[in-house]
Amino acid sequence: MKLFKKSLYIAAAMLVSFVSVQCKDGKKKETSTEVAKTVEEVTITKESFGTTEDHIPVENYILKNSNGMEVSVITYGGIIQSLKVPNKNQVIEDVVLGFNSLAQYEKPNPYFGALIGRFGNRIAKGKFSLDGKEYTLATNDGENHLHGGPEGFHRKVWTASEKQTEHSASLVLSYLSKDMEEGYPGNLKVEVTYTLTDKNDLAVSYSATTDKKTVLNLTQHSYFNLSGDFSKTILDHDVTIDADKYLPVDATLIPTGELRDVTGTPFDFREAKQVGKEINSDNEQLKRGLGYDHCWVLNGKEGEIAFAASAYDKASGRMLEVYTNEPAIQFYTGNFLDGTLPSKQEGTYGHRTGFCLETQHYPDSPNQKDFPSVVLEPGQNYKSSTVFKFSVK
Ligand code: GLA
Repeated sequence: MKLFKKSLYIAAAMLVSFVSVQCKDGKKKETSTEVAKTVEEVTITKESFGTTEDHIPVENYILKNSNGMEVSVITYGGIIQSLKVPNKNQVIEDVVLGFNSLAQYEKPNPYFGALIGRFGNRIAKGKFSLDGKEYTLATNDGENHLHGGPEGFHRKVWTASEKQTEHSASLVLSYLSKDMEEGYPGNLKVEVTYTLTDKNDLAVSYSATTDKKTVLNLTQHSYFNLSGDFSKTILDHDVTIDADKYLPVDATLIPTGELRDVTGTPFDFREAKQVGKEINSDNEQLKRGLGYDHCWVLNGKEGEIAFAASAYDKASGRMLEVYTNEPAIQFYTGNFLDGTLPSKQEGTYGHRTGFCLETQHYPDSPNQKDFPSVVLEPGQNYKSSTVFKFSVK
């Protein structure tokens, strides 16, 4: 902290002296503005985002880095409400779908920007067994359980605390999910930390402990549109996914258990490819998902942080790279967006105006013995990390 303050003073001193030299030399004002930009400081500000229907106050934390990149996170659902990122001309625009009001987030919506728990993605028929005991979860996607259930983590008000260093701003969110909440065993203590760094990285780190054997699969459900213009679709974004295999699904979007080779299919994103290039091809799996809504099995070694996927919008020059230690990633192309939800900008969110890259374990893992385990036991520490890295090219 001392070091941080000291360097701020140095930065401020440099700015003052530079500006005064500029004044003596009679150079243009713009020059000093540019300099001011380079010494912009990391900040965290907090403001009210209203109160829930149950009268619980909700805060909005705005983390800003020295490049002017900014992320707003609300304590309701740990939702990334906005993410403002520079384009190739240094114009800073919002690149995530969401709403301007809390009331809108409290109405049914497709998990815009939310933290998802206890289980990202689907569990078949909302049932699983642990040590011979069957658990029944709340179902909210036909006969299946999706994204932690109707009262999942996306609808909880989290407790927040801030952390700041010279080059990063963090928000630590915590939540205690009580034994049998939405049908899951164990009192689960969860902590999620969002960290924005001066490298334009947004890191999301998850940790959790339980007092009873349970299952856990946390993720983040942001919808990106790197153009910054939510009236545009994401079909012209170039996407790569570092995966040789993906998980085909049945008619209810539950994995069949097969790990299918992507070679020669519309699911091959090993080389950058426009999202729209093959999305409407005559392919049984694309028809099931109404587009891409599948889990890819990442090539990286499980447990080690590695490159998972990227998306690039040529017009703005914005590039997003995703790194994770999770074994899989769900790529969802906003197929259910249908122009009924109000945009933060003008109008509504049309079909495929946002895409999600949800790092996670495989869907339905509690019921599929050959999938990597999602079991968390008392005494173990659940750890998961994902980094959304922004740049321009
Ligand atoms: C996930 C699912 C989709 C859909 C969205 C939310 O990504 O895989 O099928 O439910 O969330 O609408």
